[in-house]
Amino acid sequence: MASERDVRARLQRAGQEHLLRFWAELAPEPRAALLAELAPLEPDALREHCRRAAEACARPPGPPPGLAARLRPLPPERLGSASRSDPKTRGRWEEEGFRQIALNKVAVLLLAGGQGTRLGVTYPKGMYRVGLPSRKTLYQLQAERIRRVEQLAGERHGTRCTVPWYVMTSEFTLGPTAEFFREHNFFHLDPANVVMFEQRLLPAVTFDGKVILERKDKVAMAPDGNGGLYCALEDHKILEDMERRGVEFVHVYCVDNILVRLADPVFIGFCVLQGADCGAKVVEKAYPEEPVGVVCQVDGVPQVVEYSEISPETAQLRASDGGLLYNAGNICNHFFTRGFLQAVTRKFEPLLKPHVAVKKVPYVDEEGNLVKPLKPNGIKMEKFVFDVFPFAENFVAFEVLREEEFSPLKNADLADRDSPCTARRALLAQHYRWALRAGAHFLDAHGAWLPELPCSPPNGDPPAICEISPLVSYSGEGLEAYLQGREFQSPLILDEDQARGLQQQEP
Ligand code: UD1
Repeated sequence: MASERDVRARLQRAGQEHLLRFWAELAPEPRAALLAELAPLEPDALREHCRRAAEACARPPGPPPGLAARLRPLPPERLGSASRSDPKTRGRWEEEGFRQIALNKVAVLLLAGGQGTRLGVTYPKGMYRVGLPSRKTLYQLQAERIRRVEQLAGERHGTRCTVPWYVMTSEFTLGPTAEFFREHNFFHLDPANVVMFEQRLLPAVTFDGKVILERKDKVAMAPDGNGGLYCALEDHKILEDMERRGVEFVHVYCVDNILVRLADPVFIGFCVLQGADCGAKVVEKAYPEEPVGVVCQVDGVPQVVEYSEISPETAQLRASDGGLLYNAGNICNHFFTRGFLQAVTRKFEPLLKPHVAVKKVPYVDEEGNLVKPLKPNGIKMEKFVFDVFPFAENFVAFEVLREEEFSPLKNADLADRDSPCTARRALLAQHYRWALRAGAHFLDAHGAWLPELPCSPPNGDPPAICEISPLVSYSGEGLEAYLQGREFQSPLILDEDQARGLQQQEP
């Protein structure tokens, strides 16, 4: 282990000696913990990190000057659409996606290293229950969609196939996530096909470039953003693991979208048939200030401009048809070829520019008191997963319907958007629509048929509660066999057992 002298000398080189200012007061155990935390920080990299943070902080807030003039919407030839293409074309994409899945060439990769501060829970967001009748968590829904998509691809191609699940965690989420998966028996996935790996942490820094001590014996560290993915892939040899398994295409997604379609065959097939090395799913933005990044071009190069970095004026610009000019909302669902990820980890990662988030970072003051600041006092530097788009040779975006594919869980229930309540409603409304489409009828308390109106969340609950297990249907397929011409009282919870029972009865 590194000695105090070594570490002190390295900190001196980085201009960060103050991190040892409580050394004399510390007992042996906290001393060892602090040294273990400080030893891996490379002096030159640390100095540079602090310099960049302070420099970024000295710049005026808001988008970089002149950005608006360099922006253009994505040209139509780079944009596919699930909803506006004909069923035959969509079918072709889907078929190709299933083919690749059946060949074991597709993996999914979950970004789950975030701290979920807005939702305000102390455990990883994937463990959250939004209040579905089945009480399923986000992780369980995702695991079951993986199992179903494997099954569908296998049935089509008469094979058994696997979609490996890579899960990027951070120091904050690894322990509880791993424990949760074990407790739930990996949701009946083969643990050998669930690969967890940890992203790096970076120190939080004051506005004048000093690393913050959270306690006398602990540096304030935060995950390095979801763009920390690329270093983490390298640190843990994940691309080699993919290569061993024959994986060529990776669907990367964020944890909080309750409607996420893992390894979506339509999206995968579209990207593969376009010969894309990199792709992003988008939805039409709901309103100008919606906190979603915008997929667009900067100086003619495809890119995402994050919601925190676009000016309100630009966000509100209208196109000639009256819609928002920058309308392609990023839903953090990306397609990458393994080859592209390899090029990123080998060549492009060092070129990614960190983004600055100004945050309230608890710290220990000169007298050693713990302080919970009331206003922002620190800078966290983060890389973004989509910042590699400009390096793609063939980038495509793929538009999907929000009501079918996007309802993120960001805020606690008091918020009127992106909350547990809106997520739950979005899923139940979708399942109600699927059931009606498959020919089901729902009865009220008096036995009369409930309205068949399409319901549109987040404005209200569907007329009846209907929850369909992902193990029964991935995206609404195959439900006629259980539901056609049948009447149901609310709630209907269609899991595998219920589905088997229904199949055995006459309608
Ligand atoms: C993200 C997108 C935004 C998009 C929105 C859609 C980024 C940088 N921003 O914004 O463009 O419109 O989702 O919902 O992708 N994460 C890590 N490690 C980290 C930080 C985050 O793995 O260090 C993970 C989170 O666990 C989550 C995902 O990245 O799964 C997105 O993070 P979050 O902070 O929720 O992003 P948003 O600000 O909502």
